[in-house]
Amino acid sequence: MVDLKDIMALCKRRGFVFQASEIYGGISGFWDYGPLGVELKNNLRDAWWRSMVIAPPIGPDGQPGQIVGLDSAILQHPRTWLASGHAEGFSDPMVDCRETKLRYRLDHLVVLYANENQNEPWIAVHQELEDKDIEKRLKKLGLKFNLSELKRNGLEKIDPKLFDKIIAPDATKAGTFTEPKQFNLMMETKVGATASDDDKAYFRPETAQGIFLNFKNVVDSSRVRMPFGIAQIGKSFRNEVTPRNFIFRSREFEQMELEWFCHPDEAKIWFDFWVQQRHQWWKSLGIPDDLLYMHTIAIEDVAHYAKAGHGNIDIEFKYPFTDPNYGELEGIAHRCDFDLNQHQTFSGVKLEYMDPEDPTKRYIPHVIEPAAGLTRGVLALLCAAYTVDENRPSGMYLNFHPSIAPKKAAILPLMAKGEHPEIATKLYLELRKEYNVDLDIKQNIGKRYARQDEIGTPYCFTIDDQTVADGTVTVRDRNTMQQTRIALTEVKSFLDHKIKE
Ligand code: GAP
Repeated sequence: MVDLKDIMALCKRRGFVFQASEIYGGISGFWDYGPLGVELKNNLRDAWWRSMVIAPPIGPDGQPGQIVGLDSAILQHPRTWLASGHAEGFSDPMVDCRETKLRYRLDHLVVLYANENQNEPWIAVHQELEDKDIEKRLKKLGLKFNLSELKRNGLEKIDPKLFDKIIAPDATKAGTFTEPKQFNLMMETKVGATASDDDKAYFRPETAQGIFLNFKNVVDSSRVRMPFGIAQIGKSFRNEVTPRNFIFRSREFEQMELEWFCHPDEAKIWFDFWVQQRHQWWKSLGIPDDLLYMHTIAIEDVAHYAKAGHGNIDIEFKYPFTDPNYGELEGIAHRCDFDLNQHQTFSGVKLEYMDPEDPTKRYIPHVIEPAAGLTRGVLALLCAAYTVDENRPSGMYLNFHPSIAPKKAAILPLMAKGEHPEIATKLYLELRKEYNVDLDIKQNIGKRYARQDEIGTPYCFTIDDQTVADGTVTVRDRNTMQQTRIALTEVKSFLDHKIKE
């Protein structure tokens, strides 16, 4: 599989993703989406919105699903986070290193040791560290362990009393870890011009709570009837202890969340339905099935709100830094009636649903929540699309499905002067009414194809002398590099067909 470094280099070179505040040395955990990145992200966002709000799937009951959209504020009343459990429980275990002053998430570290009973030092490393980097680390410390014989243990499971014999990931000697502390991930701010500590507010760590707070507003103002969903896409913020792996884990990111409300007795049916739907959806964007893994989370590891329900299944993706294993892309949880119940208790406002046919039937609905990362989805699409091909000048291409490719086509006149650019400009003005297309006039044609391969443009239409003579253009297919001729008048319907295929 491709190295993450190659993907990051491509993203910078071609304008997908830049480090935020780069000219000031960057700010850890924040990223900016460049001209092509924002198009890719918007295409993924729009595909999700279409599949959820515009054309939700047909349910197991044979009915077209009812889902409405929402765009709630990023800051909500601070009591929201008391009710949701985030103020108390949304924290990660963390340790500092006294020697290097670096901070680590304890549950992301593993400790390596040759023999539990001997007095050799134990070495802590990040769980995603590759073997070759572990070898480098051992060499630097002057330790001659045989990698295949080393045992591994989750550091969180090690008694902090044994920290004295562990060398922290960047330290030179053992015993520099501090006592583990719980660190709340919510980012704080203050609201108002004369703000004091009493006006403390939090940037939302998930978009979901805005949906629960508006449950009653949506039921009262729209014609939705149980079962139904409320969908939202937007920014979330988490003060991640160790933002890592490019845009995989950042401090500002975007989520696409559906809260599906149903009768408690039907929760299992809907849980299974959404797991299957979401798996299919990622595949429909061109992600091969062997890069996806459906991970049933062990009951002791599921979030507090899903403990009493049918659990939690994560859709995982094989990222370059998890390979041969997988890492989370989307989580589908049965949140039961936890959130609505909590907000009813904390706000004093009734959040029951009343059956319109029988007002004696009132209940707090259960919730099935497919919660996907939009920015993490962009990373998965980039990783899945990156295809090495030594036989072309660019050495690689991005194999995006046409529906999510940032540019749908490029129009390339063979000559920079005369009739070629005139015809090309006319075609460009026609196509751009509907699609994001490139008109690229200068440079030799090979370089122009190479650039389009690197940014994943599925088709290039070339205007040449034959176009002037008989009104046909060449279509170059990105993946096969094959060229065929079609009529100029057919270009638009050709693209329509390929994008919707
Ligand atoms: N409302 C449920 C919820 O927020 P989650 O598993 O914490 O559940 C859902 O987050 C998705 O959001 C994850 O599967 C992941 O794709 C994305 N996500 C979570 N934390 C992230 C981070 N720090 N950076 C990027 N994406 C993140």
